[in-house]
Amino acid sequence: MKRILTTILFLAVVLSAMAQIRVATPNIEMVLTAEEGKTLNLLYFGDKLNDNDFANLEHAGVLDQNVYPAYGMNCPVDAALAVTHADGNMSTELVIESVSQVMEDGAQITRVKMKDTVYPFYVTVCYRAYQDVDMIETWTEIQNLEKKPVLLTRFDSGYLPIRVGGVWASHLYGTWANESRLVQEPLNRGTLTIKNKDGVRNSHIDHAEVMFSLDGKPQENQGRVIGAALCYGGNYELRVDTRDTDYHEFYAGINPDNSAYTLASKEVFKTPELALTFSNEGLSGASRNFHRWARNYKIAHGDKERKILLNSWEGVYFKINEEGMDQMMQDIAYMGGELFVMDDGWFGDKYPRLNDKSSLGDWVVDRNKLPNGISWLVNRAEDHGIKFGIWIEPEMTNLVSELYEAHPDWIVKAPERDPVVGRGGSQVVLDLSNPEVQDHVFGVVDRIMTENPDIDYIKWDANMSIMNHGSQYLPKDKQSHLYIEYHRGFAKVCDRIRAKYPDVTIQACAAGGGRANYGILPWFDEFWVSDNTDALQRVHMQWGASYFFPSIAMASHISATPNHTVFRTTSLKYRIDVAMSGRLGMEIQPKNMTQEEKDLCRNAIAEYKKIRPVVQFGDIYRLVSPYDGHPIASMMYVTPEKSEAVFYWWKLETLYNDQLPRVKMDGLDPDKVYTVHELNRIDDKPLPYEGKSFTGKFLMENGLEIPYRHYVNYYKRNDWASRVFHLVAQ
Ligand code: GLA
Repeated sequence: MKRILTTILFLAVVLSAMAQIRVATPNIEMVLTAEEGKTLNLLYFGDKLNDNDFANLEHAGVLDQNVYPAYGMNCPVDAALAVTHADGNMSTELVIESVSQVMEDGAQITRVKMKDTVYPFYVTVCYRAYQDVDMIETWTEIQNLEKKPVLLTRFDSGYLPIRVGGVWASHLYGTWANESRLVQEPLNRGTLTIKNKDGVRNSHIDHAEVMFSLDGKPQENQGRVIGAALCYGGNYELRVDTRDTDYHEFYAGINPDNSAYTLASKEVFKTPELALTFSNEGLSGASRNFHRWARNYKIAHGDKERKILLNSWEGVYFKINEEGMDQMMQDIAYMGGELFVMDDGWFGDKYPRLNDKSSLGDWVVDRNKLPNGISWLVNRAEDHGIKFGIWIEPEMTNLVSELYEAHPDWIVKAPERDPVVGRGGSQVVLDLSNPEVQDHVFGVVDRIMTENPDIDYIKWDANMSIMNHGSQYLPKDKQSHLYIEYHRGFAKVCDRIRAKYPDVTIQACAAGGGRANYGILPWFDEFWVSDNTDALQRVHMQWGASYFFPSIAMASHISATPNHTVFRTTSLKYRIDVAMSGRLGMEIQPKNMTQEEKDLCRNAIAEYKKIRPVVQFGDIYRLVSPYDGHPIASMMYVTPEKSEAVFYWWKLETLYNDQLPRVKMDGLDPDKVYTVHELNRIDDKPLPYEGKSFTGKFLMENGLEIPYRHYVNYYKRNDWASRVFHLVAQ
């Protein structure tokens, strides 16, 4: 009651006296003008203002632009919203009816309710400003109180005008086995569109996140940067429209292509959150804001250290059996790992899963491969002193499966047409708009967990897109809702799973890195960066992913050489040093490793345990980019107190006797004195600065000289060099 009263009092203040609203976090803010009967306009987005500058803001010639332009009335700009009203009128004109600002769960929530000037049609623009991290989420709630349905043909989450003048965009692109590649480009006239139409996964090709460097060519550790992430696991569209005005117009929301939405009378359509941040410490500064927000609010268990695991996939592929699993568990336990994950190939009764052509959907253990079932494996894991995890792909089935035989109507498929098949020539997607399918998908997890409550980890895969549009569940006039309803169904299933199994670790895998997205991660602990485990390519992919995602969420595994995807042979030391910059794991057949290799990994795992809190909870400072044409890449993590840091240096493909740049560190306390210790050392002799100490100032102004290669026995030399230094303040 007290809270309601405070809310009402505050609301009254906002409406009667405040034409300006401050939406503020500890260090950044948005200033909006919100007057009854007028449009909601943005005056400012950037560093927090002092009282003087706030008071005079309106006189500074700042922007003053409608934050949610609707199509049809005085709309020279593109629109965030387009509606065909019940009577066929295609125009919408929104003005403010009420404003409220309250504190909820430690965040400031601002709601600006707007009404069409003619129709009983409402849009509430909402903001959540966190009070412990610098992130503002915005979304809208679109409500139809007309007597009949209206048709939404565009429904963005938010719109942000960005002042023209040397603005560059940094975003991610890629494909399977080459995900999260960084692209940086100046914004020119015309439209930059970043979009996804996969239907199921959404980060293989483009990513739903972008950064804008406002002061010319992007720099890692200086300059103003706006960061944006659309928190939506389905099809999205981010577009920057630049025409004849002073502003790049940035819109982000659900991709409306083939998704026109019929909004019934009284129904509310909630758009996904668009998370916005600002930093004047360059791209790495914006990344630090994303990472803190992610760990605190947007990934499951963001405050818990991740276990070091061995995954069976690249070690045995589909060739699963009890003896083999037990041996792998024993080996990872010997090397100091904490978890074993049995990947694809363990299931299928009538149709055993011998390859990718059958059995998805039949989540019963294959007794020929595993006569004693899952529980035997879980017990063996316990005997080895580690935890057990399992692979599933519950949103899918194969046409060759008992599930499909029983429920052919459960798959996504165009009416009157044959299904379009994906992986293995027979994989199809289950129709999650159908509540029975939602029950089935929940049931897959529920059964496994009920039968084996000690399962610690689930790798949840999704290896196919929606390749023919059609729901056998949705009515004829709602077929265009399929993409949206699929993800609503997915959300319902994930909510149920998390309500019942809050503690289990779940990895979002989607044919590699198809589900690195903040619409997905609140239910998932981490994502599989890519099926490509080649260390050199991982330097590039993990670099890109680190723009938006913290290392705690990036599964990064040591694998065999020649690499199974790219056939490159890198040194084991190099593979270890790359994997150690993310959530360390292994994806290899230990049986095929020499004792020396096992010892190297065993040592690396022990070292990683020492630096795990710095890597998984530290602040990132990217130093030398693999995309900038230098022969090396380098980055570091620093604890928030600046008491400890881990520095990474990886040689890239180089020509012999190339001059390597000396890397200046960043993020340290200039006045603290740090002792340097090399981890994973393979050289015969320690580096000259081993055990020596330097001020943060020296390390940030000069850096340390790193030799071109490792000094090891002549016959063991190779062209890969990498270093990991642990810095501890005295
Ligand atoms: C996908 C995943 C892999 C592996 C296989 C199993 O490709 O990305 O990591 O789990 O499926 O079939």
